[in-house]
This record gives sequence, structure tokens and C-alpha cells, in this order.
Amino acid sequence: MRNEIEKLANIIKDSKCLVVMTGAGMDTESNIPDFRSQNGLWYKVDPAKVATVEAMYQNYPLFHEFYSARIKNMENVVPHKGHYVLAELEKKGYLKSIATQNISGLHTRAGSKNVYELHGNLRRIKCNECGTRHTIEDFLDKKNCNKCGKNFLRPEIVLFGEMLPTNIWDRAIRDVKNSDVFIIIGTSLQVSPVNQMPYIAKGKTIYINMEKARGYNFDLEIIGKAGEILGELGEILL
Ligand code: NAD
Ligand code: APR
Repeated sequence: MRNEIEKLANIIKDSKCLVVMTGAGMDTESNIPDFRSQNGLWYKVDPAKVATVEAMYQNYPLFHEFYSARIKNMENVVPHKGHYVLAELEKKGYLKSIATQNISGLHTRAGSKNVYELHGNLRRIKCNECGTRHTIEDFLDKKNCNKCGKNFLRPEIVLFGEMLPTNIWDRAIRDVKNSDVFIIIGTSLQVSPVNQMPYIAKGKTIYINMEKARGYNFDLEIIGKAGEILGELGEILL
């Protein structure tokens, strides 16, 4: 593993435009479960019942209960070493941007500035009817919208079947296309359209994950824990 990390450090040192994409595996060492590995969330809860647009309309109380619990579970969550190393790599001018599927906001909390939240952010709440922004407390307390009066507040996240925020998606894709090094961290690459990014990258692609992903041909794969690997990378580069 060490020599793969040293190889990655040299690739980053020679890079001109490094872009990173992260998934739920980037947050598990901050005690946020992922979705599809053995103790993943989708083995406990059927996403079709809580994480699709239809589910939100057909069973709002269950939708509300599920996302209220996720918001409360995130109250004591903090970024880990790996989040801070990525923020430092940006500060030192190595890293241009991070495109994340995660809705935890941990990259921003660790100090990263250029973060594309492709699937939104669990801590941002809006009215599903008129889009008016609300507080987390309004959502947890099941308040009506203070503008249109409807009782339909929801987190600003992308549910299955919803379009990604186009301007964010377009800017993230532009960065991936311009990158000469693209590092993919902690994602099973099962969900579209984000799982198309490695095919769009024109430069070197590096995959850091606990398990391999099928159907991709990465220039370098480092199988292991994101936090540990990024921690070692930071010791070499920073
Ligand atoms: P799918 O292939 O049916 O869905 C593809 C989705 O990606 C569609 O909703 C489409 O609107 C969107 N999409 C495709 N190309 C796009 C583009 N160029 N720009 C913007 N959006 C584009 O796959 P699926 O597994 O049924 O749904 C995956 C969708 O669910 C994705 O949009 C994914 O981001 C979203 N999602 C789901 C969850 C969850 O918890 N279930 C969380 C976050 C995001
Ligand atoms: N270090 C590295 N990899 C890890 C770690 C870790 N500490 N922990 C878990 N992983 C790996 C798992 O082995 C798995 O391959 O991260 C990957 C996480 O994959 P998923 O659980 O499928 O999460 P993700 O790819 O982000 O899912 C994409 O699906 O349901 C939606 O909203 C959800 O945005 C998410 C999208």
C-alpha cells in the first residue's frame, strides 16, 4: 500500500489540475454509514420507500421520519483526517475542486472551498412547493411553509429519479473534463449520472476504495480506508 501511496503523491506533484470525486465511503470513518457495503443503509431501509420522489409524495410521514433521524444522527459527526488533507491540498494549490455525492457537508466543514454538492446537503431545508428556504428546526418540528403555508418541507437533496442541480453538475463535469488527474474516493459507482465521471475524465484516474469497482479501467487503484490512505498521502505531500 505504501508504495502505491508514494506513486499517487508523485502523480499529484506533477499534476496541473487535480479534481476529486467522493462518495459515502469518504464519510464512514466519521461514523456516517454508507449505503451498499455490508452494513450499509440500504440493507436496513428500502430506498424505494424513503429516498425517491414517489416515496416522498406517497408517504411523507415516513420520508420525514427517515430524514429527521439522519439529520439528528449527524449532529455529533465531525470531519476526519482525510477531509482535512483534501482541504489542505486545495490550500496548497494542488487540488482544484471536489465533486461529492455526500450530503453531510463534511468537506466544507474541514475547510474545502470549491465543493460541488452533486446530491445536495441534508442541512439545507426548503419548501417542496415554493422552494422557500427554512431552518432545520422548521423541518424537524413539521412546520408549514412560512410563505405558501403548505406542509411540505424537505431537505435540499437529490432523491432517486430527481435531476441533479444542473448548474452544479455542469460545473463539476467541466472541471473533470479539464483535469489531468481525477481521484475517485469511497464510492461504489452504482448511481448515475455520477458513475459516468470516470469515463469523462481525460487524464489519469485513481480509485481509492475498500473494494474494487467493475467496468472501469483506472490508472491506479488503492484498496483500503480513505482516511488512512489520505492521512499517509498528507504526510508525504504536506
Ligand atoms: P437512473 O439512471 O434511473 O437515474 C438517473 C438520474 O440521473 C435521473 O434522475 C436523471 O435525472 C439524472 N441524470 C442523468 N443524467 C444527468 C445529467 N446529465 N444531469 C443531471 N442529472 C442527470 O438511476 P437511479 O439509480 O434510479 O437514480 C439515481 C438518481 O438518484 C441520480 O440522480 C442520483 O443522483 C439520485 N440520488 C439518489 C439518492 C438516494 O438516496 N437514493 C441520493 C442521491 C442521489
Ligand atoms: N474507505 C474507502 N472506501 C470505503 C470506506 C472507507 N472508509 N467505507 C466504505 N467504503 C466503500 C465501500 O466499500 C463502497 O464501495 O465506499 C463505497 C460506498 O458505496 P455506496 O455505499 O454505494 O455509496 P455511494 O457510492 O456514495 O452511493 C451513491 O447512492 O443512494 C445514493 O445518496 C446515495 O449519494 C449516494 C449514491
